[in-house]
Amino acid sequence: MSELNKIALKIISNGKGILAADESNGTMSKRLEAVNVTSTPENRLLFRETLFSSESMKECIGGVILYDETINQMTSSGKSIPDLISISGALPGIKVDTGAKELANSSEEKITEGLDGLRDRLKKYYELGARFTKWRGVYLISEKYPSKLAISSNAHALARYSALVQESGMVPIVEPEVLMDGDHSADACFSKTSEVIKKCFEELTLHKIDLSGIILKPNMIINGKNSKNKISNEEISQKTIECLKNSVPTEVPGVAFLSGGQSELEATENLNLINKNNNTNFIMTYSYGRALQQSALKMWSKNIKDIEATQKTFNHRAKMCTLAAQGKWASELENE
Ligand code: G3H
Repeated sequence: MSELNKIALKIISNGKGILAADESNGTMSKRLEAVNVTSTPENRLLFRETLFSSESMKECIGGVILYDETINQMTSSGKSIPDLISISGALPGIKVDTGAKELANSSEEKITEGLDGLRDRLKKYYELGARFTKWRGVYLISEKYPSKLAISSNAHALARYSALVQESGMVPIVEPEVLMDGDHSADACFSKTSEVIKKCFEELTLHKIDLSGIILKPNMIINGKNSKNKISNEEISQKTIECLKNSVPTEVPGVAFLSGGQSELEATENLNLINKNNNTNFIMTYSYGRALQQSALKMWSKNIKDIEATQKTFNHRAKMCTLAAQGKWASELENE
């Protein structure tokens, strides 16, 4: 077993999942302002420190993805944020892309940037305690999108990123996110997501990536947000499994889904069914941002000093997701 494979398994085994708390300052400001909290470095730290010191971190969370600001912050008790996370047994991770920008010659689409100077930034993050990283490519769905250009250029960037991350001794999370925006069918999501993931693995293989030392972070197969033809949770789980079975090489240890705009309950229920129906060798878990933090953020915004109430809300959500990652969730448990 390679060291990278061991790290990947430590993050996602035994029902553990990933807390994606890597919102950029811009995105985090939007989230905080939506619940009437001023977005300052201190408030961003307070919310995150509250989550990272919750009880559920020990049993549910295998890794936390941080943003550059957070990985450099110190807690109120003088610990570094990576140390606070490590104490609970989880591994600190870091988002290393610098965002999705307009793709030249296909201006409605995006290419994710951040390769320049990446090798040096990775060294710094490793020294700060990071053991895994994230890079997100985003793809629009419509009749003509994603274009071959977007599929190919984002896959190339994901592969070059992965090679540098593995060279630095960390596990890359490879995140090709086919967006839920639009009125496309679940079948369109299936075929476009399959094409996107296959191209990513073609490039990862070309760049000699150790596939046992990555975690794939894909979207689930789901109809567009504005589609009139909504498919059932059972169909979502079956189509998602089929897509991954056909497009992901078996060496990959596991898949940690993004929530991508699903509600907390939808994301939990879908993950649970995926695990009940999972007939692959892949671990299937969560790497949720909004679907882990939404209720906790709302609770926190009522009184940002009431740490207990926020942690209670977060603990519940994390526990539900971890049950779902083992196919053991049931809707009745939501009320306990
Ligand atoms: O890159 C996306 C985030 O890490 C996951 O966020 O679960 O809110 O889609 P989400």
